[in-house]
Formats: sequence, structure tokens, C-alpha cells
Amino acid sequence: MLLTKQNYSSQNSILIQASNNAVKKRIEREKHDAVLMARRGGITPDHWQSDLLQSTAKQLILNCSRQSGKSTITAVLGLHTALFEPNSLVLLLSPSLRQSTELFRKLKDFYNAVGCDSLPQIAEESTLRLEFHNGSRVVALPGSESTIRGYSAVSLLIVDEAATCEDSLFFSIRPMLAVSGGRIILLSTPRGKRGFFFNVWSEGGEDWNRTRIDAHQCPRIAPEWLEREKAAMPDFWFRQEFLCEFVESMDSVFSFDEVQAALSDTLEPFSFGDDLI
Ligand SMILES: Nc1ncnc2c1ncn2[C@@H]1O[C@H](COP(=O)(O)OP(=O)(O)OP(=O)(O)O)[C@@H](O)[C@H]1O
Ligand SMILES: [Mg+2]
Repeated sequence: MLLTKQNYSSQNSILIQASNNAVKKRIEREKHDAVLMARRGGITPDHWQSDLLQSTAKQLILNCSRQSGKSTITAVLGLHTALFEPNSLVLLLSPSLRQSTELFRKLKDFYNAVGCDSLPQIAEESTLRLEFHNGSRVVALPGSESTIRGYSAVSLLIVDEAATCEDSLFFSIRPMLAVSGGRIILLSTPRGKRGFFFNVWSEGGEDWNRTRIDAHQCPRIAPEWLEREKAAMPDFWFRQEFLCEFVESMDSVFSFDEVQAALSDTLEPFSFGDDLI
């Protein structure tokens, strides 16, 4: 069948319209399911990663093996929040600026993989900050108490390598979330039986949603490679890095269990003059 010029151009615009509508519908589905966005960006999430992307929990803690994909998937979640919650603030924290920048880069790379005309565009950008046309911001900061003071109304706070962040950081971010009603994700491999990451994991109570993924559960870590690593490193280090165990730190004079056993609720504090001991 021969088409006139006019018929051809009207058929063309119908096709363009249909394709735009299909993209809009797809983006609408991604809004309600971040797993779909992850897949479009080239990441097929592991089961636990899908659970994280679909969780509505306010407080999440991920105790995961090295290289299991915890930073990657929280970066996806951070971007999803910024794109689909207008005017949101997503803070990326970690013990050092270098590590926060790394997490930020994962998020930005993922935006480059999924970004399209139907998603909010970048309005302003620097090495540690993204601002979108929907008013949302993503900011990467080194995780010290002083650098995060001044931020409020946080929608999502991601603390990477949380086991090596200072306790003061954790205590200073909690009030921010209380006011904004935002979410927090702590992710790390353990670093001994101390600090807020250990405390939240072991005593944080029902308010925290816990995920533990050791190296054997990660499909990208070959069992043979793991066996070789096990042979090449001290036992405590392997258990910590790959089996997610809170192993006693080697520099402790007393073990955590010894200190716990020495504590008593029945003894009265001993007083020496005005000072309690
Ligand atoms: N679902 C997935 N499919 C394919 N590759 C993945 C997936 N999740 C993560 N990866 C890849 O696995 C590697 C490790 O991911 P990532 O850096 O997120 O792990 P991590 O747990 O944060 O590691 P580390 O403890 O070293 O910080 C990266 O190359 C990442 O792209
Ligand atoms: Mg990481």
C-alpha cells in the first residue's frame, strides 16, 4: 500500500505517541517497584536485594559479606527515592569522603543507565551533590557529626561501612529522622562487638529490619575462591569479612562476653566521697 506524505506523517506521530505512552506506563510501574528500575539499569537483583528494594521498613540494617552488593543496591534505592519522591533529600554517609564519593558515583552511574525524558532531569550537579528538577537532592558527605549538622527533613539516610563510623554520628542523625519521618539504612560488614552497628544489630529490637548475607549466599562469589581466601587469611578476619560474624577485636583486653558477665544489676554503686565508682 502506498502512503501519501500526510498519511505517513500522521502514522508516524501516532507511533511516537504510542511509544511515549508505553514509556510513561513503564516509569509508573517502576515508581511502585524499584526492582523494575534496577533491571532496566542492567542489575538483576539477588533475592535479598529485591526484598530491600521493595521493603517499606523505616529502619534497616544490612550485615553483609564483602562484595555482596550492598552498596550497589542501596545506591539504586537512593536514586529511586530521589526520582519518585519530589523534594526529597537523600544523604549518603560513610566514614570517609572517599567512600561516600564512591557510593555517590554508583548512584550517578545508575542514573546514567536509566535516565530518560520521562524521569526527572538533573538540574545541578557537582562531585558530591545532585539536584533534580523535581526538587530532590542527593548529597554525599563524610560521616562525621559536624558535617551532617544543618541537614534536616531527610527522606533517606544511607550509612555505608557503618561499623567503622563513630558512635557520635549515629546519635546525631537520629533526631533528624524523628522529625522528618525518613528512613535509615545501615550497611556494613562487622567490625567487632562494639559500636552502634553492633548494638543495633544485637539489641536494636523489633524496630529494625535485619538482613544478613554471607559470602556463600552471594552468587557472584565462587566457592573455590572463597576457600582460597579462607586459607590465606587469619580465621577471625575471614569470619568477619565473609561470614558476617561479630568477632572479638584482637586489641580488646577483655572479651565482650567477659565484660557482660562482670556487669551486675544487684550491686550498689560504690561511693568514694561525692564520686560514684
Ligand atoms: N545483583 C547484582 N548483579 C550483578 N552484579 C552485582 C549485583 N550486585 C552487585 N553487583 C556487583 O558486585 C560488585 C560488588 O558490589 P558492591 O560494591 O555493591 O558490594 P559491597 O557489598 O558494597 O562490597 P564492599 O564490602 O567491598 O564495599 C560490584 O562490581 C557490583 O557491580
Ligand atoms: Mg560497599
